[in-house]
Amino acid sequence: MPRTIPWRARLLNKAYGLPFADAILKRRAQSMIDRSRVMQAMRPGGVYLDVGSGTGHIIERLARQTAELETRFVGIDLFWKPIGRVTRRLRDKAPGRAVFTHASATALSMPDASCDAVTCFYVLHHIPDMLHAQVLDEIHRVLKVGGTFHLLEDTPTDEASWARQERWDRRVNFESRSEKHYYRWAGDWPSLLEQHGLKLTHREDFEEDGGRDGMIHHTAYVTVKEG
Ligand SMILES: C[S@@+](CC[C@H](N)C(=O)[O-])C[C@H]1O[C@@H](n2cnc3c(N)ncnc32)[C@H](O)[C@@H]1O
Repeated sequence: MPRTIPWRARLLNKAYGLPFADAILKRRAQSMIDRSRVMQAMRPGGVYLDVGSGTGHIIERLARQTAELETRFVGIDLFWKPIGRVTRRLRDKAPGRAVFTHASATALSMPDASCDAVTCFYVLHHIPDMLHAQVLDEIHRVLKVGGTFHLLEDTPTDEASWARQERWDRRVNFESRSEKHYYRWAGDWPSLLEQHGLKLTHREDFEEDGGRDGMIHHTAYVTVKEG
């Protein structure tokens, strides 16, 4: 579990609310949405859950791009609530369509079969690997049959890239050196997802320039809950 302590969350909340940080987070959210293919899951009146919703930018972008569909969004995060700018824009541009709750991915505060799609972007490697099965069971529980799960994860390719990835993660998320990361190799996720009733329909491996930490490897997975 990331050892985000309240003072750090409060400080980052202020920093991420600065106009330039907000602009970067908007662009980053859009690129995650595109990679994850979640827009293809949007249905009129649908309900969408973002697990580990952080600053709220992902839900904000999705809500604004689906105004005519009247979709609804729930964001769950153990530590974070959306930054003020996101809350204000949602209130103005998508009133009543998004709610954010503090909860753990291991015990989602949603009824069974209530979601058309679930997203989880760069969250699972912050949760101890022995809890991944519990999180995937929860995601399977809240999805409707035919609903989709869109996962983005950091997926190092070897020991050296694991160490690079960890340095980069600590740097971009302002984490302490003791913060643990529970990455998995890209090829290990599909079987784990399938063991939890989530059938893989799409996978894309891609890289990001991590500056002084070199190239950082990520993978996007799309899965479906079969009946
Ligand atoms: C690297 S951030 C990613 C945030 C967001 N998904 C994004 O891509 O911008 C990881 C997020 O996971 C959240 N998180 C960590 N452990 C969690 C848990 N057990 N349940 C729910 N959220 C968790 C953290 O608070 C943080 O907001």
